[in-house]
Parts: sequence; structure tokens; C-alpha cells
Amino acid sequence: MSLTWDDTPSATLPTPTPAAPTPTPRTDATSTYNNLAARAHMATGILAREFAADYAVDAKSGFDNAKPADMTADTAHMDQRFNRVRAEDKRVINAKTDVNQLVPFKYKWAWDKYLAGCANHWMPQEVNMNRDIATWKDPNGLTDDERLLIKRNLGFFVTADSLAANNIVLGTYRHITAPECRQYLLRQAFEEAIHTHAYQYIAESLGLDEAEIFNAYNEVKCIRDKDRFLIPFIDTLSDPNFKTGTFENDQKLLKSLIVFSCIMEGLFFYVGFVQILALGRQNKMTGAAEQYQYILRDESMHCNFGIDLVNTIKLENPQLWTNEFKKEIEALMREGVQLEYAYAEDTMPRGVLGLNAPMFKEYLRFIANRRAQQVGLDVLYPGATNPFPWMSELIDLKKEKNFFETRVTEYQTGGALNWE
Ligand SMILES: [Fe+2]
Ligand SMILES: [Fe+2]
Repeated sequence: MSLTWDDTPSATLPTPTPAAPTPTPRTDATSTYNNLAARAHMATGILAREFAADYAVDAKSGFDNAKPADMTADTAHMDQRFNRVRAEDKRVINAKTDVNQLVPFKYKWAWDKYLAGCANHWMPQEVNMNRDIATWKDPNGLTDDERLLIKRNLGFFVTADSLAANNIVLGTYRHITAPECRQYLLRQAFEEAIHTHAYQYIAESLGLDEAEIFNAYNEVKCIRDKDRFLIPFIDTLSDPNFKTGTFENDQKLLKSLIVFSCIMEGLFFYVGFVQILALGRQNKMTGAAEQYQYILRDESMHCNFGIDLVNTIKLENPQLWTNEFKKEIEALMREGVQLEYAYAEDTMPRGVLGLNAPMFKEYLRFIANRRAQQVGLDVLYPGATNPFPWMSELIDLKKEKNFFETRVTEYQTGGALNWE
């Protein structure tokens, strides 16, 4: 069976002549295109791992190189994909079910997070930056240390969310075979774009040197070190030759997912979040702080989604969670804490806003313990406590109860906002 546009029943189509001779298979460009379209469509579904690379080659080579005979050979293999999906057959990785069929739901937690992400939708330009601009322009508005902190802070974030988006779009998405999880990843990818937009909007509003800020991940060591730690894990998943389905590669995927959710989104963002939110608590840079508050809420959900994803993969593939693997993950988390602490020291060399780097050492240890426990590891730093309990309150705040009182009085998705 091949899918072509002609398969669609239509009342306007001419009635076929009775007893027409058996048609010869079409090999013209249109027919081949339709077959390629069908095959490319199928390549995104079940057995994507086996077919995707071949289809990509076919699609690139164009109509003329396609061989109808090859397609016939595939047909029997593809037939099982026409079966109706059963929830119990779905898997987060290496599924044999059709990834294009969202229902029946199996991973309701992923769908619920998708709905929650949509309900939290926001756009940077909804936030008024006038007070921030006035503060930044006022020679007495901020200390030199506060200005350095803001620039180093943005220097990390302006590219970090692009790395996060790359990781989702070019890597993670194609290896995940649960459509509910893919649906959330699509939402998450757009949120990463919104975050990059927000950091750019803040940098532009303040009139910062954008070349300096955007290239900070090449020029500032503590930022470069964090990104260099992450990039090999992104490269693993985005390598076109990387495929799951073996013990070794499934562990690599799991490791990259843990690094991303627990170390990048769950740890590397937190010094930066505390810094800007602490400014907001002192009534400085409240427009930037309001945006960071929304980003913190989004990232908190990204982190929790990633952890749910990891734990579901562990549940479905318990053989991957070996003692050796656990030790490797613990070592990566400890390295992450060191890198983030170096970033804290470099962005706050003298202590600022009542914050200082040693407070962050304790905070990062506290967070790392929580991340370790969330994926089923023992605490890494026994006894670590949270020096910033107000951060937990901010994560759960609703948009209508804006902590910084920058007064969004009405919320309309995609519409204009009124300001008091
Ligand atoms: Fe983000
Ligand atoms: Fe994120």
C-alpha cells in the first residue's frame, strides 16, 4: 500500500471505468514524490531509527534517484505501522509504536506539563523595562559590582538557552519515542526561544554592547568552562550517526538527559537566577527580575520534566542504572557544582547585594543534593542547607501575583497588555 494524495475520497472525482485493466505502478515524478512524502512521513514514526537516515538520503537525492522497486520491498516491513496504538506498548525510548499518534495517553505527566507550560505562556515585550533603563543610565543607580554582575549574568544566559534549544531540537527530540514527551519538548523548545528573546530584550533595553555580551561564552573563562562541560553531551545526542537501541548508547542518552536536566537546567542556572532576583528584591532592575521570575518558573518545569523523563527511562530500562553509571553521574554532579561555584566567584568577586560566593557554595550543594535524590542517588553533600529560602517561594508564584509588582494588569495571549 502506498499513500498518495489520490487516496483521498472525493465526490468530485470521476467514477472509475468498470473492469479497467490493472494499473501499472506509476514511476513518474508525481508518483515518486508521493511515495517519498509518505516514506518521509513514516520515517518520523515507528521504526524511525531504522529508516530515518535512508529516507533523508532519498529526500536529498530527489525524484530521479528514487527506485520504486526499493519501496515495494519496504512495504511489508512498514505494514505493522498501520496497527492501532496500545498505551501499554508505548516506551519513552526505542518504542515500536507510532510516534505520530499522541493518544492513547500513557505518559500523562508529560501531557500535563505541556498543558501547564502553555498556561504559563508569556512574552518578554509584555514586561516594561522603563525603570530598569532609568536605573542603568543613572550613574548612582547601581554600583560597579552590580553592573559587572548583570553583564556576566547575561553573558551566560544569552547563549545558554540557545544551547538548550539545540539540545532539544537537534538531539533529544529524535531519540524520544513517546509522543506525549515529544509534545512537551516542542513546547519547551519554544520556551527556550522566548528565554533567548528575553535576555536579548534586556541587553538591548539597557543599551549594552551586544557583541560583548553574546560572545561572553568565548571570552569569559567561567562561562566558557560551563559551556565546554555541556557541549560534549549535546554533541552525543545531535550526532546524526548516534542511535539508541544498544546498552552503551542508551546509557549515553540517559547520561546526557541527566546532565541537561539536573546540571544545566537544574544547577547552572541557579546562581544567575538568585543574582537577578536578589536585585529585584531590593527594588532594582525589576523588569529584568520579572522576566527572570517567569524564566525560573519555566526552567523549574523543564528540570522536573527532564527528571520525570530520566526516571521513566530508568523504570523501563532498569539494566542501564548500574553502580558504575551511578558513580559517573555523581562525579559529573560534583564537577557541575565546582564549575557553578567558580562562576559565582567570578561574577561576585567582592560580595554584592548581601550575597557572596561562599553562600552560593552552600546553595549549590543543597541543590545538587536535591537533584541527586530526584534521580534516585544518595545525597552528595550531607547537611547542606538552603541559604535562600525565598527562591522556593518565587518558583511557584503565579503571573497575576507578580512578586516585583511591575503591574501586569491584564493577560492576553498574543494581544496587547495594559499598564497602570
Ligand atoms: Fe531556558
Ligand atoms: Fe530550559
